[in-house]
Amino acid sequence: MDTSQYKTQFTALYGRAPSFIARAPGRVNLIGEHTDYNNGFVLPIAIDREVTLVGAPRADRIARVYSINFDQIAEFSLDHIDHDTAHDWNNYIRGVADVLQKAGYTLGGFDAVMQGDVPIASGLSSSAATEMATVMAFTAAAAGSPSPLQIDGVSAAQVSQKAENQFVGVNCGIMDQFISSLGRRNHALMIDCRSLDYKLVPVPTGATVLVVDTTAPRTLAGSAYNQRRAECEEGARLLGVASLRDITAAEFDHHAGELPPVIAKRCAHVVHESQRVLDAVAALQSNDIAAFGALMNQSHDSLRDLYEVSSKELDAVVDIARGEPGVFGARMTGAGFGGCAIALVADEHATALALKVQDEYPRRTGRTPKVYACVASDGASWQEI
Ligand code: GLA
Repeated sequence: MDTSQYKTQFTALYGRAPSFIARAPGRVNLIGEHTDYNNGFVLPIAIDREVTLVGAPRADRIARVYSINFDQIAEFSLDHIDHDTAHDWNNYIRGVADVLQKAGYTLGGFDAVMQGDVPIASGLSSSAATEMATVMAFTAAAAGSPSPLQIDGVSAAQVSQKAENQFVGVNCGIMDQFISSLGRRNHALMIDCRSLDYKLVPVPTGATVLVVDTTAPRTLAGSAYNQRRAECEEGARLLGVASLRDITAAEFDHHAGELPPVIAKRCAHVVHESQRVLDAVAALQSNDIAAFGALMNQSHDSLRDLYEVSSKELDAVVDIARGEPGVFGARMTGAGFGGCAIALVADEHATALALKVQDEYPRRTGRTPKVYACVASDGASWQEI
């Protein structure tokens, strides 16, 4: 990203030069959906769209940020962090500051200009990117001070998740913040959401991850997400395990008939989806993209029929993509109920697929999609400028 214009804006706004740039990416999940809060496996990539904070430390304890996307400026004191009812976007920054301080980290104030090209509220984790970029900004602002902020990538993700859960009030799992923190260029990250161990897995060469934003509003996303979480917890309780991670797919299938039908469907998705992540990693490691794509397709069908979090728009994208040349697999990504779908397509067919979706999707849904080709990118970082 060319940041020169944000530096110019910083100087115009604050009357001095910025000294750091902090950044963190959005994500798409290749496979492993609704498994993170069940302590299972996920396989996301960080994408080449990110939130950037260009800033400089202040001598006092004020954090002041101008958001280019919202054309608003908001500030708060690190000594008194309450919710900002006028600037929703500022609560991600406040939440991170609050959680960091409650965890015992010493923070200093800063001025910043924030900008992002992760589409907002589209299911590509602009909120996790904002949280992780904020951790980086506080780290940058405290560098060289008597009490520098030292935090490892896993802890930074945990802080960001806690900010989202406890301050913003969204009960998400750890996946989005974890990949925004620890993603790596040209790699997907297999995360064990129970132990928080992780493994980098090279993404296949010769294939493009095409992201299609359905542009449909994400209705029900919050309430239905919490309902699915509760159904999984109920399933685990009835099965006598601490979480759905603690039962294998084969064991589950043996006991599924003992559960109420809806709970059985939800749990069936989760236990098989977590296994699919392991199978998908094995497929990538043996360079079997066709097998990987087939698992993506199974994942979508399970999310549509068993977990029931797809939408007619997501199904339309998947249906269009699957019929096209060079497509290995297609599925919804993220929480569902709108948002984005992804297709894994041979590089030489990617442009044709994008054109096909742009042509066919509006006919089927009456909406105009946004189509992006994504590259697996590095996780959060900061540097002096
Ligand atoms: C959202 C949440 C994640 C994860 C996915 C579903 O993106 O933020 O923690 O639960 O939904 O896989």
